[in-house]
Amino acid sequence: MNIAILSKGTKNYSTQRLVEEAKLRGHDVRVINYAKCFVTLEQNNPIVNYKGEIVTNVDAVIPRISSNLTMYGSSIVRQFEMQNAFTTTSSISIVRARDKLRSMQLLSKSGVGIPKTVFARETGEYEGVLEQVGGAPVIIKIARGTHGRGVVLAETRKAALAVMQAFNAEGVNFLVQEYIAESRGEDIRAFVVNGKVVASMMRKSSEDDFRSNLHQGGEGRIVKLSDVERRTAQKAAKTIGLTIAGVDMLRSDRGPLVLEVNASPGFGIEKVTGRNVAASIIEYTERSAKTGRRKDKVGA
Ligand SMILES: Nc1ncnc2c1ncn2[C@@H]1O[C@H](COP(=O)(O)OP(=O)(O)O)[C@@H](O)[C@H]1O
Ligand SMILES: [Mg+2]
Repeated sequence: MNIAILSKGTKNYSTQRLVEEAKLRGHDVRVINYAKCFVTLEQNNPIVNYKGEIVTNVDAVIPRISSNLTMYGSSIVRQFEMQNAFTTTSSISIVRARDKLRSMQLLSKSGVGIPKTVFARETGEYEGVLEQVGGAPVIIKIARGTHGRGVVLAETRKAALAVMQAFNAEGVNFLVQEYIAESRGEDIRAFVVNGKVVASMMRKSSEDDFRSNLHQGGEGRIVKLSDVERRTAQKAAKTIGLTIAGVDMLRSDRGPLVLEVNASPGFGIEKVTGRNVAASIIEYTERSAKTGRRKDKVGA
């Protein structure tokens, strides 16, 4: 098969692992830096140009779109979709997953556990917003943040009000969320491939932080999920319309609560768990590229 990995970082660990496993399984694989692609549109002919040539004969695309290039990256993925190439992650699901508000709305409707969340923009009623999530301490996060950047723990009412005002003054969309104190700076990352959890780890924040992102100094260790946790991760991925997803959950007194569903989860989890996530993805790609494209059924 001709596999194209869309990634900005050729040397990146996740990209390298995908290349390695694809080669091991006998595929022709190339890494395309989507940021440097341009598209040509004319009647009935969606073209992707890269490094002076037209990219043709791609059987399957594996998108690894970074969060600061969501729109451009997903439009390149869409261009391949229009050529009827199979993609492991659809362009629409990437855009959907990157919007925390939209994701939380869908998750809430699907019935998976989520922390109580309020979304507000220009309202003078910040006190009311705080009351809705049970008062301080609260979590405030910008709608398009990632790697833990843009997530604030406001420990007092005063701090919460000030943060909301600051975000509002900058015109940033944000969510206010109940703080799940009992998770004690730990969260679960479940890596889902085609409806199955193929690896899971527990991440613990560094001493002086509440965020457990590895990018913020958090550390991972292997963890066995309960049945409910496993089912929650699977359902959350399906709800967002992602066949490959990194689902972040908190362990709370009322069961697992989903924080977010990542469309380009990192492969650092391989080092922590010893699981071969890249191979699972290539196997899934092989099987699915043959049966053709799936339709996005989320409808939002
Ligand atoms: N409601 C919450 N209660 C407690 N901790 C939280 C809450 N929301 C986020 N966190 C912590 O902050 C981290 C980052 O939050 P997350 O919503 O996943 O944003 P990002 O997209 O930046 O990773 C989480 O992994 C978790 O450790
Ligand atoms: Mg996260």
